Amino acid sequence: MSNFWSLWITVITFIVIFGSLWLLIANRKTEIKGDLEEGEIPKTGHVYDGIEEYENPLPVWWFWMFIGSAVFALVYLLLYPGLGNYKGLLGWTQEKQWEQRVAAANQTLDKQYSIYAATDITELVADPSALRMGRRLFNNNCSVCHGIGGVGANGFPNLSDSEWQYGGTPEAILHSVTHGRQAAMPAWGSILGEQGIVDVTDYILSLGGKDFDPQSAARGATHYQTLCVACHGVDGVGMQALGAPNLADNVWLYNQADTSLVDNIRHSIRNGRNGNMPSHGDKLRPEKIHLISAYVYSLSQTNQ
Ligand code: HEC
Ligand code: HEC
Repeated sequence: MSNFWSLWITVITFIVIFGSLWLLIANRKTEIKGDLEEGEIPKTGHVYDGIEEYENPLPVWWFWMFIGSAVFALVYLLLYPGLGNYKGLLGWTQEKQWEQRVAAANQTLDKQYSIYAATDITELVADPSALRMGRRLFNNNCSVCHGIGGVGANGFPNLSDSEWQYGGTPEAILHSVTHGRQAAMPAWGSILGEQGIVDVTDYILSLGGKDFDPQSAARGATHYQTLCVACHGVDGVGMQALGAPNLADNVWLYNQADTSLVDNIRHSIRNGRNGNMPSHGDKLRPEKIHLISAYVYSLSQTNQ
């Protein structure tokens, strides 16, 4: 605030306070004219159109209440900011108050976090208030990618089912969240050619019991045994150590809504996939990761 406005506010404030005090004291008693009879209420002598004004001073308590509020205002303005740029003797600011409250809230939270951090995730699953905190943290930090409730989206795994790329144990989840995960599915387009892609896709479809062309799938099986089995395992069951998904189930990480499943699978094989789960160890405190992981773990427990 510029000095001018600061002074402006200060002067007006003082005029109001001292002006009211002056009004109050100056009008406290009026001089009574003439003698009073027994029991007669004194009059001020003011007459207007034949109407006379009684001398009716403010009750004493009321008078002192006015004085009291003026004194309160002056003391308040001395201690707290209120007069233009003057900061007040106590040095109170909104920021400081906010910081104090945040610190107090953190202290309470810290206590709560450390209790939860010391509790095993398999036990936290039975604690509704821990899961509530975990859900809040999850929605703030993870739902942009994994969706509210961890239901997933194309390219972002569903965390609420019992299918896991890297494992659904508390340890595996903690590891995924803390250190992140980088998937490396190579591109096979140039090695297999389009026919090879079609064939190996049919083989994958046969593993999951879907419609497939048997001749094509038979050719694809050979490709699969040479190129894919090392990561996706025998019969396409997947390998959690590599994050290679199960190809024989009905859960697909890459399944864009406006594309058929067959085209999605072919796209994965032709171009490769490099899903990236960012590490959160440097973004979130371990206590929070512990709670979030408990929440994620609970999702697959209840939905099984
Ligand atoms: C080096 C290990 C590795 C090899 C070899 C490999 N894959 Fe993969 N594959 C992966 C990984 C890891 C993913 C997960 C990619 C991701 O999460 O982004 C994946 C994903 C896929 C997917 C997508 C699954 C989904 O749920 O959407 C398909 C389909 C697939 N692979 C098929 C194949 C086929 C067919 C071959 C052989 C031609 C093959 N892969 C060879 C590691 C491998
Ligand atoms: C920027 C997007 C993004 C954010 C934010 C994110 N994730 Fe992920 N997450 C992914 C992707 C993508 C994958 C799959 C990686 C892959 O393809 O290998 C993944 C994988 C995972 C997995 C492994 C799933 C499995 O099947 O093994 C877990 C667990 C997980 N995320 C939990 C979380 C949690 C908890 C948070 C919040 C702290 C989070 N993620 C935040 C993108 C994200």
